[in-house]
Amino acid sequence: MPEDPADTLDPQRLAVYANGYQAVTPWVQSTGYRTHGLRFAGLGDGVDLRLAETFLRNTCSRRSDRETQASIAGYFTDPAVQMLAAGGVEDLACLTTVTLPAGARLRRELGDVLGNRRSVRMYTGDSIPLEQVATLVRAGGAVTGQSRVDLLTGGQAVIQHRTAPSPGGLYPVELYLLTLRVPGTAPGVWRYQPRYDVLVHTGDERRMRAALDGFSVTEDIISLSQAALVMLLLARPWKALRKYGDRGLRYVLLEAGAIAENLHLAAGGLGLGSVDCASFYDDEVHAALGVDGELCALVHTVIVGVPG
Ligand SMILES: Cc1cc2nc3c(=O)[nH]c(=O)nc-3n(C[C@H](O)[C@H](O)[C@H](O)COP(=O)(O)O)c2cc1C
Repeated sequence: MPEDPADTLDPQRLAVYANGYQAVTPWVQSTGYRTHGLRFAGLGDGVDLRLAETFLRNTCSRRSDRETQASIAGYFTDPAVQMLAAGGVEDLACLTTVTLPAGARLRRELGDVLGNRRSVRMYTGDSIPLEQVATLVRAGGAVTGQSRVDLLTGGQAVIQHRTAPSPGGLYPVELYLLTLRVPGTAPGVWRYQPRYDVLVHTGDERRMRAALDGFSVTEDIISLSQAALVMLLLARPWKALRKYGDRGLRYVLLEAGAIAENLHLAAGGLGLGSVDCASFYDDEVHAALGVDGELCALVHTVIVGVPG
């Protein structure tokens, strides 16, 4: 084993900057000092709400929680299975849509992409073709297959599966695009519709600009203005909360993480640069998109461009 340069650093000095819940004793299990700013009390809202900690504690799964067990069991009944089978059914007749072409092929092996993945924050300002956008959105959430499920009352339902895993197959996370530089789509806000594999126009350029204004990153950190595409992961938490209770929110966020990583891997495979960006003012972006932040909320974004 080569010598690790980190071995020469003073662990107690570094521990001050690590978020820990255990008071430091000079031993390896100690993860950090509880500095004032990192105490959970410090995370409260003036009245010590300790929201993060409370969320974690209150969303633990417990054997005694019969209510959640009954709720989950309800999703194995025929009406619930049929509801899942009908997921994404929508009348697109009056909406502006773009049919996606065959996707651009990924140019690199998965191992190569994984081994070299890095956040890329600077972009050239070049556009990316719709074929690459098709590859990206399909990596995030395309329908990739289906399975037949026997109904208790006879007959079958057809359940669709997607590229990214989802809690209970409920798919609470939807993929929206801000198309800064994608020939074939007007600059604006678009929603990827997995069932029909199309982009649906949901907002004009003014809304797109308003959504971009809601980002709190500066150009020297991420050259957002030179990106080709911003992918917004919008969640409908109640799809999961209805079944799993408050714990469902964890699942929504986990699904968003899985989608985001798929986007990064596809971007890497296409030779594009991408970065996660949580630096946005939620309610400003919500207002730009016309969503309320509760029934529909922005949970994450991934910025994509030609590496600069
Ligand atoms: C949930 C999440 C949010 C992030 N938000 C930002 C962000 O707002 N701005 C930014 O520059 N990087 C952001 N990043 C990227 C991280 O800074 C980056 O992944 C980390 O520094 C490791 O670097 P690497 O991705 O190049 O390996 C985010 C990453 C994650 C997972």
